[in-house]
Amino acid sequence: MGAEVVIEGLTKSFGRQTIWRDVTLTLPPGEVSAMLGPSGTGKSVFLKSMIGLLKPDRGRCVINGVDIVTCSEHKLYEIRKLFGVLFQDGALFGSMNLFDNVAFPLREHTKKSETEIRRIVLEKLDMTGLAGAEKKLPGEISGGMRKRAGLARALVLDPEIILVDEPDSGLDPVRTTYISQLFLDVNAQIDATFLIVSHNINLARTVPDNLGMLFRKELVMFGPREVLLTSEEPVVAQFLNGRKLGPIGMSEEKDSATMAREEAEAEAGHGDGGLNEDVRGVVPQMQVSPGVEERAGAKRRMDRVMRILHTLPPVAQEGIIESLTPEQQRYYNVRPNAAPGQYAGPQETQQFPAVGGPVPDQHQGQLPADQVARIPGTAGGPPRHGQGGA
Ligand SMILES: Nc1ncnc2c1ncn2[C@@H]1O[C@H](COP(=O)(O)OP(=O)(O)OP(=O)(O)O)[C@@H](O)[C@H]1O
Ligand SMILES: [Mg+2]
Repeated sequence: MGAEVVIEGLTKSFGRQTIWRDVTLTLPPGEVSAMLGPSGTGKSVFLKSMIGLLKPDRGRCVINGVDIVTCSEHKLYEIRKLFGVLFQDGALFGSMNLFDNVAFPLREHTKKSETEIRRIVLEKLDMTGLAGAEKKLPGEISGGMRKRAGLARALVLDPEIILVDEPDSGLDPVRTTYISQLFLDVNAQIDATFLIVSHNINLARTVPDNLGMLFRKELVMFGPREVLLTSEEPVVAQFLNGRKLGPIGMSEEKDSATMAREEAEAEAGHGDGGLNEDVRGVVPQMQVSPGVEERAGAKRRMDRVMRILHTLPPVAQEGIIESLTPEQQRYYNVRPNAAPGQYAGPQETQQFPAVGGPVPDQHQGQLPADQVARIPGTAGGPPRHGQGGA
């Protein structure tokens, strides 16, 4: 199982410019999480801080009991081996063929024989759909293939945590879907913890188990996908709909005069950009490819989410329950309201053994870390997912 990453009060600035402050979240082991945020909100800085390439000013980032903010260089070097990183541009060496690019970390960090290296490299190239392309140079292949080669290279040291920066940059929508599928299939095969940084709405809505959003130098929210997909939080709703109307402006936050003007324009019938309809709601999550075993992380997540269900906003509860198969609803002892569009409310869901703690009225901020992870798994396990599962 992948490593859990516990981040508490993490703050990063460059000189006098604060990039984000007091970021607290837990990446549950083996689950796929995505961090959203407008350009320039510090998503890439966040990833770099997680692997210690940048040093946060304060806070903790704990992996396997080691706080990488304060640990020694030697410890940091060891912890870094747990990570596989797929940078925005694939970061391949232009003069090396794909084989040598993918073999690079093995030759640098291990004492494996060339025979063993060859076996691993070919296996990872095969896993990422690049079998037969090992002699190609990065300049001779498409952007999608370069991304996959970057992923193959990120996989060779058997990472427990995989960080991905903007997987869709430079890719068409179809290739973006293919690489997203690959992330889920790889997650199923190696059960690593994923964090994908992106501003692709489609990916955000269909791929990850958990979503977070950075804005105004803060983590606006982090939690199960259903919570953000149904959120009324203006920033989250605006972002997930790709709208002009809302607090996010051309470069950063909008002033109130601009907001008022845009609202008046919209009321006067001026198109808002973005998607035509409000796409709030829990769309089905992408599943692993046929023939790939189900994701252990998805199963764990379902148990985890069902344990915190009573703490989630009613509309998210409804979305979650409706996405379960009838067998899963029986297993978790929950049922959707008979009347369509009218969920019976928390009293229904409280039949499920709750983890305790107060039930917040609403979730305008991030979910408490102890509710987002560290939930012991239940014995046995739920029935297999249906198409709308997770
Ligand atoms: N090494 C650095 N030194 C100083 N400032 C930096 C450094 N790296 C990033 N920044 C600043 O931090 C801010 C956040 O940058 P970052 O690249 O993390 O944003 P992002 O959310 O990844 O944006 P995008 O979606 O465009 O990739 C920017 O204002 C950037 O100029
Ligand atoms: Mg970036």
